Amino acid sequence: MSMLKEKILVLGGKTGMLGQALVKGAIARGYEVETLGREDGDILDYEFLKEKIQQINPQIVFNAIAYTAVDKAEEDEQNASAVNKRLPEMLACILKGTSVFLVHYSTDFVFGGKQYTPYTEKDEPCPLSVYGATKLAGEQALAKLENCAILRTAWLFGEGRKNFVSTILKYAQEKNSLRVVADQFGSPTYTKDLAEMTFLVLKNHGTGIFHAVNSGQASWCELASEAVKILNLHVFVEPIETKDWPQKAVRPAYSVLSTQKLTQMYGYSPRPWVQALQEYIFENMNELKQNGEQHV
Ligand SMILES: NC(=O)c1ccc[n+]([C@@H]2O[C@H](COP(=O)([O-])OP(=O)(O)OC[C@H]3O[C@@H](n4cnc5c(N)ncnc54)[C@H](OP(=O)(O)O)[C@@H]3O)[C@@H](O)[C@H]2O)c1
Repeated sequence: MSMLKEKILVLGGKTGMLGQALVKGAIARGYEVETLGREDGDILDYEFLKEKIQQINPQIVFNAIAYTAVDKAEEDEQNASAVNKRLPEMLACILKGTSVFLVHYSTDFVFGGKQYTPYTEKDEPCPLSVYGATKLAGEQALAKLENCAILRTAWLFGEGRKNFVSTILKYAQEKNSLRVVADQFGSPTYTKDLAEMTFLVLKNHGTGIFHAVNSGQASWCELASEAVKILNLHVFVEPIETKDWPQKAVRPAYSVLSTQKLTQMYGYSPRPWVQALQEYIFENMNELKQNGEQHV
């Protein structure tokens, strides 16, 4: 007798950094996987999205589509809002009353950064940027959907797309010194580990908001220094202040997330970010060591 596999639809599964890790994780766990993204048509068209979801008929949907260009969003609020707020609104409408389980992703940038202890799911959001505000609106759009978990994550690195770590390692091989912000603190997180936390929540049918990051905390400068050290690159990483690296969007000075809820509910403790970073770099050594245009 053949067992029917559960089908997961990964939105952004072809090109998104997290999307690709989710696809890999789902295949490894024996799920049937389909993806949907820009390459298939206008995902922001309600009728198109609804028809595609009905056609694919998944038991589970992961929404890894987002407008993630934090600075660009400051001058492109309409598009940021269409992807980060309107898409979750449409998913809430399409999935309401069905048994489909949705996992959606949000960000540490929903917080204002005015505290010095890790943010819990009960802390009050206070976004400082258009990106943060539109992501918060996306969370709110899904608040009433029954079969839905929202995983807030942060400072992602992983395969398949340019990210902070891969960019630092690229420049570290081209320059003698790098200037990196040392007065913003967050929770660096490997997409592979976030995928694992996603399947943990899914297995337990956890609903509501969860903070899902690797353990520990770092400044951007500490993250860059650690990455450079792992690859044994001889480059000076100079700590600088936020005011000396002007960017369009305001970022929280402190946005470390507490994963206490995941631990209390499921007995799960994410591994430290340094360990996850080592695995990411060791697994992708060839691509991360600059060779031509290759850029993980
Ligand atoms: N990256 C981080 O450091 C970070 C930190 C905190 C939270 N998060 C959250 O984690 C989740 C995953 O982030 P990520 O870093 O994996 O994002 P990403 O690599 O930037 O991928 C975003 C995905 O969304 C798709 N997309 C964007 N606009 C679209 C549109 N108008 N129509 C169709 N597809 C569109 C992209 O497609 P194209 O490739 O075609 O553009 C891509 O597949 C997001 O919810 C993000 O807010 C990320």
